[in-house]
Amino acid sequence: MKINVIAVFPQILDSLNYGVTGTAIEKNILEIQRIDLKDYPLNSYGSIDDKPFAGSEGMIISPIPISKAISLVKNKGKVIYLSPQGKTLNQKKVKELATLNDLTIICGRYEGIDQRIIDEYVDEEISIGDYVLSGGEIAATVLIDSIVRNLPGALGNEKSLTNDSFSDGRLKGHSYTRPRDFEGREVPDELVSGNHEIMKEWKIANSLWVTKQKRPDLFSNLQLSEKEMILLQKYELAQKNLRKGDGWKYSWKVWKRAIKRT
Ligand code: ADE
Repeated sequence: MKINVIAVFPQILDSLNYGVTGTAIEKNILEIQRIDLKDYPLNSYGSIDDKPFAGSEGMIISPIPISKAISLVKNKGKVIYLSPQGKTLNQKKVKELATLNDLTIICGRYEGIDQRIIDEYVDEEISIGDYVLSGGEIAATVLIDSIVRNLPGALGNEKSLTNDSFSDGRLKGHSYTRPRDFEGREVPDELVSGNHEIMKEWKIANSLWVTKQKRPDLFSNLQLSEKEMILLQKYELAQKNLRKGDGWKYSWKVWKRAIKRT
């Protein structure tokens, strides 16, 4: 996939040279072309912005350097403008964008860009959340990172993708690694039971429970199978039955007790 990024401070995207995205670049799965708007100034002072009409606060990036930058991109593909006024990014949109061969991202700064650029060139305006960043470069980094995870061959283990939160509209749930006992807190017995069925069922139940607790909005959109509903009920029952002192721990004994009761 080739992603063109038009920005005032393209160096901010340097963090993409590390980790999964860095490896994707090395493996030629991802190519990023950065276009620095400062290379196309309006005047000999190097300005790329101008005062807004009707005198509101701040400065607006002029349409002239942006249209020049866009004209330099060979295969633009879909053109995205990152701004807090865009539609909020989610995993469904990320997966859709990951199917494209070419993408062009325009990053705003200051008080934004001239509306005529949006009207003329932009296919989609995207926000990464309901808060305001100082510029679109960090948002572009977030967007690109989330896309790259979904490119074939980008992750060492493709299974981690299906394991990701949101991959099926639910959160991933709790994860543990060694040691089994960390400062008196033990890994749930089910996960070390060695029984694949028990481990699988616990993961499903835990993922549903975590989604319900943390993101009731996502949970209410889930269509659970009968088995999933039973697993969640059992998990919830077991949570209620936790004795004092078990603390957060989801005990295998409690789970077994709960199963017997249902
Ligand atoms: N630029 C500034 N804030 C932003 C946001 N929330 N999302 C995308 N781009 C932005």
